[in-house]
Parts: sequence; C-alpha cells; structure tokens
Amino acid sequence: DGPQAEIKASTVIRNIGQLVTVAQQPIAGASGPLQVIQDAALAIYKGTIVWVGTEDEGEPWFQQAATASKDGIKIIDAQGAVITPGFVDSHTHLVFAGDRAEEFHLRRAGVSYGELLAQGHGILTTMTATRKADTETLLTLARERLASMRQHGTTTVEIKTGYGLDMITEEACLRIINSLNAFEDTAITPLERMRIVPTFLGAHSIPPEYRDRRSEYVELVIEQMLPAFVGLARFCDVFCEREAFTEEESRRILTRAQELGYNLKLHADQLSPSGGARLAAELGATSADHLDHASDSDLDAMREAGVVATLLPGCSYTLRSPYPAARRFLDHGLHVALATDFNPGTSYCENMQMILGLAMSEMDMSLEEALTATTINGARALALQDQVGSVEVGKQCELALWSIKDYREIGYHFGTNLVQSALVER
Ligand code: NIG
Ligand code: FE
Repeated sequence: DGPQAEIKASTVIRNIGQLVTVAQQPIAGASGPLQVIQDAALAIYKGTIVWVGTEDEGEPWFQQAATASKDGIKIIDAQGAVITPGFVDSHTHLVFAGDRAEEFHLRRAGVSYGELLAQGHGILTTMTATRKADTETLLTLARERLASMRQHGTTTVEIKTGYGLDMITEEACLRIINSLNAFEDTAITPLERMRIVPTFLGAHSIPPEYRDRRSEYVELVIEQMLPAFVGLARFCDVFCEREAFTEEESRRILTRAQELGYNLKLHADQLSPSGGARLAAELGATSADHLDHASDSDLDAMREAGVVATLLPGCSYTLRSPYPAARRFLDHGLHVALATDFNPGTSYCENMQMILGLAMSEMDMSLEEALTATTINGARALALQDQVGSVEVGKQCELALWSIKDYREIGYHFGTNLVQSALVER
C-alpha cells in the first residue's frame, strides 16, 4: 500500500537507488539482513521519518502532498545514490589540544603505550596541553574534527571528557561538548548539525598532582565532580586498567554515578585483564569498550546483562596490536558496535568508513555485520536505538548519502571517502 494522504511530510527524499534501512522490524519490499529497498523514497516530518517505501508507491502521494501543502514541501533528489543510516560513533575523546606525534614515533621505535602511560606521558601529555588551551581554541578544534566526521558520514557522536582531570577543566570540556549539541543555536548551520552525546570520563588517569594520593583523586571524582556534572553528561565512563583505575575504584565511581542518574560505560580489559567487562555486567552498563582481554565468561555475563560490546580497531591499527576477535563476540550472541575511539594517543581517526573497513579486512566481519555495528549497534551503545541508527518510521532523519550506486562497494572500494554528504533534518 502507498502512503495515506493524511501523512504529513515536510521533506521527501526521492530517487534513492538503494535505501539500506538496517531496519529492526521487517519492511515491506525490503530484502536481506540489512533490509535494503531498491528504488526507494522516504518522507520526513519535522525531523522524524514518517514513511519509507518504494518510489512507485510514493509517487502519486508526493504530487498530492506537494500541491496540498501551503508552505511547500522540500523535495530532495538522491539521483539514484545509496542512502544508509548516518554512522553512530559511540566512543570518542574529541575535545583536546595538542597532539602526540612524538609518542607515536617513539612507539614505533619500541616503547609501549603502557610504558609511556606509566611514565606520565600519554593521556597526561594531552591533559597538559588541554589545561593550557582556552575555551575558544578547544571549541574550534572540536568543530573542525566534527566537520571531518560528518563529511565521512557520521551523524551521531559520543564525546568523552578526560583530558582536564581537574574540576575546572572537566567542567569546561563538558560545557564545550554540550554547546556542540545545540540544534537550536543559529550559529550551527544545518550543514554542521550533529547529535552529540556527552560522557564524563574524569577517571581517565590519575593527574600528576594526585600521583602519591590517588585515593583523594577518586574521592574528588565521587564527591565533587559527579554531583556537580549531573545534567551535563548522559554517561559516566571509567578507564579500568592496571595503569589507570582498579576494579574496586571503578566500581565505587560507577556505583555513585548510577545513583546520580548517569548511564554507564567502561574502558574495559584493553591492555590487560582488568575486571572491567565483568564489572560492566555487574552494574548493567550500557556498553563495555575495547575488551581485548575479556574472557569467555565475561562475555557471557555481558550478554546476560545486555551490555553492548564496543570494539575499537583504530587502536589495534595505531598500536599495532592484535585486532579484537569480533567473531568471538558475535558467537557469544552479543550486540557488537564499532567506533573510532578518536583520540590523539591510540586512534587519531575521524573516519567510520576506515573503521568499518578494518573490521571487514582484519576482524572477519561481513559488510552486513560491520554496517550494523557502525549504525544501529552504535545507537544501542548510547541507548539511542529508538531514535537513530536505522531508517524506519519513527526514527530521526540522520542519514548518509553515498556517492555510489551499490552499497556493496562499502568496505571494498577503500582509501577514499565514498560519502557525498550527511543528511540531518530537524
Ligand atoms: O580509548 N584507553 C584510554 N583512553 C583512550 C586513549 C586516550 C589517550 O591515549 O589519550 C583509549 O584508547
Ligand atoms: Fe577510549
């Protein structure tokens, strides 16, 4: 059946060669695990998708709607291109100053990431640069990085703090992250619009001034930062690792965060078995990320607790360490998400197409699995699966318009940007 005349639309996208819906409910006329519709169209009303179908079904109705509408209806011609959901990049550390090119090259000469971290480099190098930078500089850098992400097809981005590590800088970074999200802000044009999810990661590293009294820093996070930042961050994350925070410290911080209404995330079992994945399951975290050293029983516990497994191949690429064994996670029945982990130390990459490509070439994921992991499962990792991550009635219009005619070029044609633009309607 074609759409009913009563459906109100403000925008119609027509002439879509392939609409890769990644729908979670079967859609009439769609086929395959990604629910692809050939020669498709879709209608949007005030940013929400109100109809998805074939061009043929929609055609008479588009004419009628266009004539009936007083204010006119915006018609976008996709010219036969592929449309997918916009990428959901569910794990980034995007607000920071400076870079770590020097450490990158030191590591190539044999110094490990863990050693650098233990010597007070790594995260703390970036912390120093970030504390010194003014708000305007941090904001400009963040905007440029987001623009690059968007050009590569990302429409929703989670952003963590964690390079301030003191009350003032952590708060400043959270305010910057929130300001990037201001859809109503007229300074943000439609071409720059992205959905931003703020995460507080005060427990990223022990700052140098607390080096010999780490429990006081943990107290500062629990007693002052967490209560003060309620409303500024949706998630609280902790780097649970030998070189960072212990399982017990992480449990205390996250338990308090949960009491205050934050959703939880963990950097878990990245460099060594740290107890992070188990803790994520115990606390019912939304996601556990990295997971390179998580055990089979950890993965079972995560599945039982509904924790999304977020894999970050950009780190393996940068640190030249083994790639996460995606098949293990999939075989355990987990929802697997893929994200950039954009940060200056372990993954200086804005491009989700690169991440998807690595997952296919190095992690044995199929295109279907990798596209699912970078869209709807990214949304799950942010508890946004009812709003974004697929093209379905009721979801927000956050799409990637590709300069290809067949979606099977994704992950195959590599090293170039295949996305023409991101399409975000509000
Ligand atoms: O996800 N592991 C901790 N945090 C980041 C790295 C941050 C940094 O090195 O600056 C990560 O890999
Ligand atoms: Fe990270």
